[in-house]
Amino acid sequence: MKNDRVNFGSKLGVILASAGSAVGLGNIWRFPYEAGQHGGAAFILIYLVCVFVLGMPIMISEFLIGRRSRANTAGAYKVLAPHSPWRWVGFMGVLAGFLILSYYSVVAGWTLEYILEAGVNGFAHKSATDFKSAFIAFSQNPVRPLVWLIGFLLMTHYVIVKGVKKGIERFSKVMMPLLFILILILVFCSLSLPGSNKGVEFLLHPDFSKVNSEVFLGAMGQAFFSLSLGMGCLCTYASYFSKDTNLSRTAFSVGVIDTFIAILAGLIIFPAAFSVGISPDAGPSLIFITLPNVFQQAFIGAPVLSYIFSLMFYILLALAALTSTISMHEVVTAFIHEEFDISRTAAARWVTGGCIVLGIFCSLSLGILQHIKLFGLGFFDLFDFVTAKIMLPLGGMFISLFTGWYLDRKLVEDEVTNGGTLKVPFLKLYIFILKYIAPIAIALIFINELGLLS
Ligand code: TRP
Repeated sequence: MKNDRVNFGSKLGVILASAGSAVGLGNIWRFPYEAGQHGGAAFILIYLVCVFVLGMPIMISEFLIGRRSRANTAGAYKVLAPHSPWRWVGFMGVLAGFLILSYYSVVAGWTLEYILEAGVNGFAHKSATDFKSAFIAFSQNPVRPLVWLIGFLLMTHYVIVKGVKKGIERFSKVMMPLLFILILILVFCSLSLPGSNKGVEFLLHPDFSKVNSEVFLGAMGQAFFSLSLGMGCLCTYASYFSKDTNLSRTAFSVGVIDTFIAILAGLIIFPAAFSVGISPDAGPSLIFITLPNVFQQAFIGAPVLSYIFSLMFYILLALAALTSTISMHEVVTAFIHEEFDISRTAAARWVTGGCIVLGIFCSLSLGILQHIKLFGLGFFDLFDFVTAKIMLPLGGMFISLFTGWYLDRKLVEDEVTNGGTLKVPFLKLYIFILKYIAPIAIALIFINELGLLS
């Protein structure tokens, strides 16, 4: 194991890098369409419970496992639980990271196409139907999305090779605040569209009659996905935290920032979708069809503004996606680098190469490979389902069990309170959740979804 590991340089850097990992396409692309497909407000309420009851304690666990062991996620279990099967939790995490990165980069690549389109003023004078057909034609094209996919992975590769402090930290510090401001502006634009109040209602008035086990699984999966939990991503980042990082406070900040941005994204997308009559359950294409339209409609008298805002938005969306792909790439790269003892650059090359291959299959599965199905799903949907709805919650369950039952209670308390120097108000509750609530809740949601209860 290497001992020359670097640290993040500052407290703000720690929060912003972790938040940079958490905030991404999960908030702006995946959250709205999952919420839309699962009926809106009721889904969001269950989602919030998942974030704060399950997500927070599990995030703190990932942090403490990472910082204590100062190793990649599989290595971490080897340090804390030598010669035990726990390391398989780490292996599963690395695999999940690899799979998510592959299909995530496809969507991240789409954002680059949209930057180009916005840049050449390609959105001007188009209607909602035009945006819809343009998106379908583009996403099914056998070449164009692949070029963007590869481009995006190469950008990620570049930052990873630059390293933790210069690459990851510096980058997140500028990006995150900018993104936030732009999102706020867009919320106002979207709310000003005619008929937007129906979208707000969809977001705020829960209809519990639509809640079924699928809604629970969807909300739980989304919570893990959006918080970057369950595969050792934040665990890997925490291995670069310093001794005086306040783990519980960092987790809380990241959780709040991430949730806030997801809700704001909902406040952009749904009012806009209702305003132009696009169904909120349109699925993964939702933001790529509704958003360009918001930019056109909201500034009808001022085309310059619609040009500037749409261009800025897609640039920031791409950058938010980049801080997330970096975090996934880092998990797999740190694993290969440390466990197989090859250089960081060589490790990163393997990861980038592998993801390009898998990503190509995911991308083509939306077009020319549409007919190839495994378990009834194309590659893209299959990767999404298997990772977000199975591997991440399962990982989260094992992380809870590991911290709640396997790790010495002293070690856990010591790590969360930084050797007794911090007062952590919910420590007891947090350990209780890890021991009982989280594993049981996750197991129940699984069992229920598999239909074993009915
Ligand atoms: N959370 C990120 C987003 O919302 C995606 C992401 C980054 C992720 N790292 C992860 C998802 C680890 C699951 C696990 O876009």
